[in-house]
Amino acid sequence: MERIDKIISEQTHYTRREIKKLISQKLVYVNGEQVKKPECKYDKTNILLKINGKDIEIKKHVYLLLNKPKDYISSTETKSQKTVLDLVPEKYKNRNLFPAGRLDKDTTGLVLITDDGEFAHNILSPRKHVKKEYEVVIDIPVTSAMVQGFKDGVNLNDGECKSACLEITGEYSAKVTITEGRYHQIKRMFGCFGAKVVELNRICMGNLYLPEELALGEVKEATEDELQKIQERSVVLP
Ligand code: URA
Repeated sequence: MERIDKIISEQTHYTRREIKKLISQKLVYVNGEQVKKPECKYDKTNILLKINGKDIEIKKHVYLLLNKPKDYISSTETKSQKTVLDLVPEKYKNRNLFPAGRLDKDTTGLVLITDDGEFAHNILSPRKHVKKEYEVVIDIPVTSAMVQGFKDGVNLNDGECKSACLEITGEYSAKVTITEGRYHQIKRMFGCFGAKVVELNRICMGNLYLPEELALGEVKEATEDELQKIQERSVVLP
């Protein structure tokens, strides 16, 4: 059981002060009955909430897909820099959202933003074998030695990487699939071959490809089908 002002604050953009006012204006109804006080407690999994005549859908968790632009950092707060949460619409702001996994400031592409810690763990843990696929451009030609090296497991200073798949798509471009998410992993893997990553774009997590309609900087709620796909483990490990 939770206080109604807490439930409303989590599910909407209203501040506690605004909620108090809405309640005193007799605009908040639970299961058809007018709510008298902000302290009234309810089981949020089992209520019909109406505010100012509008039904409010109660969601336990929120799952948002973002096409991250450059210059946003994958963090929940910083002193001066823009974070991916700055791109999230106002109505989700009262939730404890965080990006599930980090993309570097200069990396673009698919990011899941959620308030579901267990779900995030399930798609990030290397033991779950959920693949992440990236389009990469480097500053020197991609070689077959890199392809073989990625497959065998690149040795980084914090240990050997799991086998990764490097597919050459152009003289300087490739697709890379990994199932881990170490700090600057792809940049460091190419660094072992004397190459510098100049563009990095995540296009897939699990079996979910970046939705075509999601422009750079846009956020949308994931559908059930998309959430299912994002959790799917690699059938054939890279
Ligand atoms: N690997 C990197 O080096 N950077 C990213 O942002 C993601 C994977």
